[in-house]
Amino acid sequence: MKVKVSRKAHFNAAHRLYRKDWSDKKNDAVFGKCNNPNFHGHNYELIVSIFGEIDPETGFVMDMKVLKDLIAHEIEDALDHKNLNLEVPEFAALNPTAENIAVVIWHKLRPHIDDKNTLEVQLYETPRNFVTFKG
Ligand code: NI
Repeated sequence: MKVKVSRKAHFNAAHRLYRKDWSDKKNDAVFGKCNNPNFHGHNYELIVSIFGEIDPETGFVMDMKVLKDLIAHEIEDALDHKNLNLEVPEFAALNPTAENIAVVIWHKLRPHIDDKNTLEVQLYETPRNFVTFKG
C-alpha cells in the first residue's frame, strides 16, 4: 500500500530573472518586475513529498524527523536569506525561476531519499503561483 507523506518548509531569497544575451527591452517584456536589476525577494513555501510503501515495522513511509533535518541541511542552509543569482552556484548560469529552483531542490534531495520512493517538490513563489516537479 503506497502513501504520500509531505513536509512543509519555508525560505526567503532574492533573485533576478534575465538573460545577458537579450536586450533590456526583451528582458523587460518577458520577465517584467522580476527583471529588476537590484533584485527582489520572495517568501518561498516548499512542500516536499515522498511517495512509497509503508514500512511494516515502523508504520512510516519515511521518518519525518529525518526528512525535516534533510530539508534544513540541504535546502534551507543553501537557499535561505541568499541572493540566488549571486550566492548559489547552481544559478550562476541558470535563471532562478520557480521551475528551475524546484528542479535544483529535487536534485539536492534525491540522493538522500530511498530509491524505492518517489520524490515530489512543490514550490510556491507567491501564495497563488506554484510549480511541481516529480523527477
Ligand atoms: Ni520574482
